[in-house]
Amino acid sequence: MTKIAIVTGSVRPGRKSLEVAHWVQSIASKRSDATFEIVDIADFELPVWDEAVPPSVKPGGEKPHTKAWSDKIAAYDGYVFVVSEYNHSITGALKNALDHLKPELENKAAGFVSYGSVGGARAVEHLRGILSELQVAHVRNSVAM
Ligand SMILES: Cc1cc2nc3c(=O)[nH]c(=O)nc-3n(C[C@H](O)[C@H](O)[C@H](O)COP(=O)(O)O)c2cc1C
Repeated sequence: MTKIAIVTGSVRPGRKSLEVAHWVQSIASKRSDATFEIVDIADFELPVWDEAVPPSVKPGGEKPHTKAWSDKIAAYDGYVFVVSEYNHSITGALKNALDHLKPELENKAAGFVSYGSVGGARAVEHLRGILSELQVAHVRNSVAM
């Protein structure tokens, strides 16, 4: 069965990101051709990237937090990113989380559910650029609230 992760985009206490992730899961779970699990980046308490070499050279890194995050993300076939807009981009937390990854995401697929004053569109466009570098195929259509 195809495994899809619904990935939160914010670690802010009281964040909407987790609520939106649950809403996405409630709708997605009506499908029978894939499983949908929430992956909350806050659970991984990732520090700002602190490995000696990039994930393209040493996937999973040296540190336990990098390995835990790498193993988690590697377990999925595709991703729905819940995208909060911070200063016309994605959150620093999501960018940092993605900076820990490379082969875990390669040749996989992603979609977006975003929110913000212009539907989080600016954040999604930035995220598309980052995911292109990580060799993720991102779907054109997205949900913007
Ligand atoms: C540092 C910061 C910057 C923000 N910048 C934007 C912005 O550029 N555009 C926007 O629409 N909302 C912006 N917001 C509002 C957030 O999108 C809004 O608070 C949203 O609920 C944040 O997502 P979260 O609840 O999942 O953390 C910003 C909020 C913060 C804390």
